[in-house]
Amino acid sequence: MTTKQPDGWSSKLGVIMAVAGSAVGLGNFLRFPGLVADKETGGGAFLIAYFISLLIVGLPVCWIEWTLGRFGGSCGYNSSAGIFHAVIGRPWGKYVGILGFIVPVGVYFYYVVIESWCLGYAWTSFSGGLDLGKDAAAYATHFRDFAGLSADGSVLGLKGPFLFFVGVFLLNYVIIYRGLSKGIEFICKWGMPLLIFIALVLLVRVLTLGTPDPTRPELSVWNGLGYMWNPDDVLGGLAKPAVWLKASSQVFFTLSVGFGVIISYASYVKRNDDVVLSGLTATSANEFCEVGLGGMITVPAAYAFLGASAVAGGTFALGFNVLPQVFASMPYGHLFGGLFFTLLFIAAITSSLSMLQPGIAFLEEGLGLDRKGSVALLGLVTAVGCTLVVWFSEGLKALSTVDFWIGDVGIFLQGTILVYVFNLAFGFEKGWTEAHHGADIAIPRFFRPIIRWVAPAYLTLVFLMFMLRNLAGWNLSFTAPAFSPTEPVLDLIGGEGHPPSGVARLTVLFLIIFTVFTVVLIQRAGERWNRR
Ligand code: ALA
Repeated sequence: MTTKQPDGWSSKLGVIMAVAGSAVGLGNFLRFPGLVADKETGGGAFLIAYFISLLIVGLPVCWIEWTLGRFGGSCGYNSSAGIFHAVIGRPWGKYVGILGFIVPVGVYFYYVVIESWCLGYAWTSFSGGLDLGKDAAAYATHFRDFAGLSADGSVLGLKGPFLFFVGVFLLNYVIIYRGLSKGIEFICKWGMPLLIFIALVLLVRVLTLGTPDPTRPELSVWNGLGYMWNPDDVLGGLAKPAVWLKASSQVFFTLSVGFGVIISYASYVKRNDDVVLSGLTATSANEFCEVGLGGMITVPAAYAFLGASAVAGGTFALGFNVLPQVFASMPYGHLFGGLFFTLLFIAAITSSLSMLQPGIAFLEEGLGLDRKGSVALLGLVTAVGCTLVVWFSEGLKALSTVDFWIGDVGIFLQGTILVYVFNLAFGFEKGWTEAHHGADIAIPRFFRPIIRWVAPAYLTLVFLMFMLRNLAGWNLSFTAPAFSPTEPVLDLIGGEGHPPSGVARLTVLFLIIFTVFTVVLIQRAGERWNRR
């Protein structure tokens, strides 16, 4: 086996920054506040379920990815398929890693589209174009037009949004082309401190908002914080399966665990370098940004200006309809609005880059492509997927369908597979020892039963509940909920009970073709690895 590393991180801090950059994203600043503020499944119960999920699956699967990734890297593999090939050591082993290609690339299909909205909104806000007065409908109309929500194909006719999309798409590839240390690590080393600085500026602005409208003293930023954080009806909430489903789904999404990203990033870590403290540090950095910053900025600000009804609309409505209206109501709002969307854009690009790297690693080591070839092929695949999402923009049907099957089902499935492979194929004891090789700290012993028994049981149970809930609700019609600017907006999780849609079926067909294509690539890669 070869130990040659064609690419790598320049320092220990670099890989931690890159993993934290991958983790901190739209999930922290849009998805998390939207979920906590949801009156049905949010609040204190959600937070309790969230922290329990973090402890029993988030951190454990994160450590598993770091451990298996570094092990695979020491055998000369940097992609999930290659790492599973090394870990399982059977001809079928490499196929178990299929989701390590499908999930990050599939999430990229729509994530980069939302990322381009963030840059577009930052630009428009800085230039004063987002100050649309006091009429809430004007903001909804602006978002509808910007994202092409009213008609399929309409984004292509809109010069601005389309150019932002193309620009952001290309920017990701220019950076990824530069490689791990000169590309991803460089962006994350500058981007993460800048992101935290901007978030702190916004936090101070929000916490000093007081009561913007003295005639309505109940609308204060403190009541906004209370609205979000006061634990009401905790027991009632914890009895709802949906609360657990949403909480664990959010933990996976926000930590970039189950994406196939951390396992690939960790494969470039040196054999004797720590993975335990690094995993914990990246997770803690993500939680600081999620709970400490993401949870304190958006909802309290929206509440202070517009009240409870405004924050209940869900992720996209909160970010792209409500917040522009909030910024327009405050002095220098165009600057704060511009900063907020810049923050979202930085958070998003450090995450979207991480979604490309596992694909690049796989194409290079599986098909023997050089950087140019792998970037070109992945660029083509993602261009097709993104075109589907951008073209079928009416009601965001294609976006929500990909998000459901890849961003929810795929991530959950991959997290579950990782736990089982670690415990059964690699072997728990061997894995525990491997994790501690070169470790700067020891994993507390109570994580032993958690990794061995609790995490697999919990994941299996939650996954079954998740599938039953969604598939039963959807009558197996492969459909996804539609986005309507006039109704409560779906969050990135999706929902149930939605009518069948041709676009959703077409999207599922596309995902099936994409999966078959990946199987063929893995088979080709296997031939190459066997020769090796
Ligand atoms: N972990 C990334 C996020 O939270 C994907 O957006």
